Amino acid sequence: QQRGVAVLGIFVADLAFRAAQLPGVGQTIAGSGFAMGPGGKGSNQAVAAARAGAGVTFISKLGQDAFAANALALWAEEGITPRTPQVADQPTGAAFIYVHEVTGANAIIVVPGAAALIDAADVDAAADAIRGARVFVTQLEQPAGAAQRGLELARAAGTVTVFNPAPALPFDDAVYALCDYITPNEHEAAALSGMTVETIDDARRAGDFFLAKGVGCALITLGDKGALLHSASGSVHIPVFNAGAVKETTGAGDAFNGGFAAALAEGASPLEAARFGSAVAAISVTRAGTAPSMPTRAEVDALMHRAH
Ligand code: RIB
Ligand code: NA
Repeated sequence: QQRGVAVLGIFVADLAFRAAQLPGVGQTIAGSGFAMGPGGKGSNQAVAAARAGAGVTFISKLGQDAFAANALALWAEEGITPRTPQVADQPTGAAFIYVHEVTGANAIIVVPGAAALIDAADVDAAADAIRGARVFVTQLEQPAGAAQRGLELARAAGTVTVFNPAPALPFDDAVYALCDYITPNEHEAAALSGMTVETIDDARRAGDFFLAKGVGCALITLGDKGALLHSASGSVHIPVFNAGAVKETTGAGDAFNGGFAAALAEGASPLEAARFGSAVAAISVTRAGTAPSMPTRAEVDALMHRAH
């Protein structure tokens, strides 16, 4: 019997700098804060799913350095099973994150390091974890070919597939037909469809584009405008939950995807799972950091109960 969530993606050390602006080239500015924490979209999604109560396996590749030790310690603490070989000749990934000190808006440079080497053979080596999971999730921070292989293995095993095409990088068109769910944010939906995606109506049009490409269901997130769940059987808008003042939006998409996957793995309907993911994201943005800002199951249940 299939259980839990398998996530293929990357871990990086997030090095977050708070400042009033991004420095220009040749300029040095003083920032107002610094924090280092665990990040990487895949690892963040794994943490969100685990805190939501799912059994989670994380498939990736690490270096043999201090950041790799941080990653393994994180997953041990969160109860996540790592399938993450360590290579000697590459660093574990890192990300430079600029956070605007007032608005919390962000800009990121991510270097996957060892995870940039994940190939189809690495994914095959973790095939048992993908086949044994109820839900498989991947993104585009590791090579797109690896994501595709994971989606193929999942589809062949009857594991539900969630493809979060983030960041917006090219991938083979054949990937669409492997997706039970594609979960771009508004920017990724625009980049992939070539359309403007700002409003809920725009998202509906982009959703039609994804359906025509062969996905089962498009779940497009629109920041503070909520999300749109769009399939052949119709469109539902999911408004945002209000969990308090926004502190940092970095990782909100990961919170959403991890929560969505965890709820699907429990047998929730797509709409229930999308609402659950939305609640996870709403809490995460009230806190600094990415993985550390993911809420517990009790916190999500309390927010959803209050909103009822
Ligand atoms: O989605 C947010 C994540 O993207 C950050 O944790 C950063 O590591 C980048 O990979
Ligand atoms: Na956050």
